[in-house]
Amino acid sequence: MSIHTYKDKIIAGNGDIKKLYYVQISMSSSYAHPVIAYNDIFKMITWFQPPTTLVEIGILNGYSLRSFAESCPSTTQIYAYDIFEKFNGNSASRDIIDKFREYPNVHIAEGDFYELYKIYKDKSIDLLHIDIANDGAVYEFALEHYMPRLTDRGLLILEGGSQERDAVPWMQKYNKVPIRDILEKYKATYDIYTIDAFPSITFIRNKSV
Ligand SMILES: C[S@@+](CC[C@H](N)C(=O)[O-])C[C@H]1O[C@@H](n2cnc3c(N)ncnc32)[C@H](O)[C@@H]1O
Repeated sequence: MSIHTYKDKIIAGNGDIKKLYYVQISMSSSYAHPVIAYNDIFKMITWFQPPTTLVEIGILNGYSLRSFAESCPSTTQIYAYDIFEKFNGNSASRDIIDKFREYPNVHIAEGDFYELYKIYKDKSIDLLHIDIANDGAVYEFALEHYMPRLTDRGLLILEGGSQERDAVPWMQKYNKVPIRDILEKYKATYDIYTIDAFPSITFIRNKSV
């Protein structure tokens, strides 16, 4: 049996108070602590099934990229892309390339989400992380253009997917397509799993896995 609990959290940056919802098993256990860092999720995924080819689109300061770089074996080739100063928002600096020099298997380059899928062959990416200020349109583009690029047991990870994430002010202000509408549309086609703790994260894989 599970119960839904929540607690208030101040989201850094804008001072808004958000409700964070957690599903907790209703029994006493040290496992029932409600907060886990996304860093641990990224590391666990690559530890459990080390990818041969990992692609990340959207680097910013390299939080997720460092998690992947630290947890993948040196045999994993990690390709990370960003449009840098071309992004009209909080973007990655080109200095990020120097910060990852210690990892010879990490390759950082300029690349646009809306074009990059063309340089990858079908069934060539084991793990794909997309984090580019995601909205429903980004999800739909990823599902249509990037899912075929995944290997049969490949995994697509996208930031977002919770109700709370769809309600962030910029999604409303710019009239963005809710991510959950797209998940609903594709849930019969793919296996989809979302962790709701803000900002939330969604995992998508082929149903045949
Ligand atoms: C939310 S941040 C990425 C956060 C990062 N993954 C982390 O772990 O903190 C979004 C990044 O996506 C980049 N970006 C935005 N639009 C893009 C696009 N069309 N193609 C590639 N990168 C893009 C931005 O420049 C920015 O660095």
